[in-house]
Amino acid sequence: MCAELSHVSLSACLGEVLFTQEQIADRVRELAALITADYQDTPFVVMSVLKGSVFFLTDITRHIDLPIEMEFVRISTYRGGTSPQLEPLFAEHLFSVEGRHVLVVEDILDTGATLQYAIQALLDKGAASVRTCVLLAKQGYETRIEARPDYIGFCIPNVFVVGYGLDYEERFRNLPFVAVLRQRNDGDNG
Ligand code: IMP
Ligand code: MG
Repeated sequence: MCAELSHVSLSACLGEVLFTQEQIADRVRELAALITADYQDTPFVVMSVLKGSVFFLTDITRHIDLPIEMEFVRISTYRGGTSPQLEPLFAEHLFSVEGRHVLVVEDILDTGATLQYAIQALLDKGAASVRTCVLLAKQGYETRIEARPDYIGFCIPNVFVVGYGLDYEERFRNLPFVAVLRQRNDGDNG
């Protein structure tokens, strides 16, 4: 993995670009149109799971043609590496959800633990309804999680990706596209 990152070595850390800025923008607009249609008669709050969903959230909400509310919650699953931690999840600063319709916006569905936790936490706190919107869903998520996201941007293979909010050890979030993070054994020595 690209541990010794400098700006010079950025391209050496990245593999295939899975989705360009334009492809993401097109898909985000499509999802926003679906959400706008589905929530025509229902006031709702968009809940962003920090930090990875921030770019997705700010883009998609600007195309939702309804007077939405926004809330931000932090739910931790990964400590910083590329494999899931097994420690229990917790939500920081969970807002008052009683009686509200909530749309959870997440960056990526991998093991599904984060989304499952968010749905349960919101229902436990009395949310009137919970729907979920993820930019990326990793192949095989259906076998790992019972819940099905209501809106999915793209399905991807089981690879570690960065960009458009997604990080590796807090880096790469600012890339405007989504790319595979190169592993050491992908043919580079650095
Ligand atoms: P899950 O709970 O296993 O579905 O993981 C969800 C969280 O893990 C995401 O919100 C990300 O922060 C992180 N994550 C999972 N896969 C990736 C990846 O490929 N790149 C970057 N972060 C990832
Ligand atoms: Mg992360």
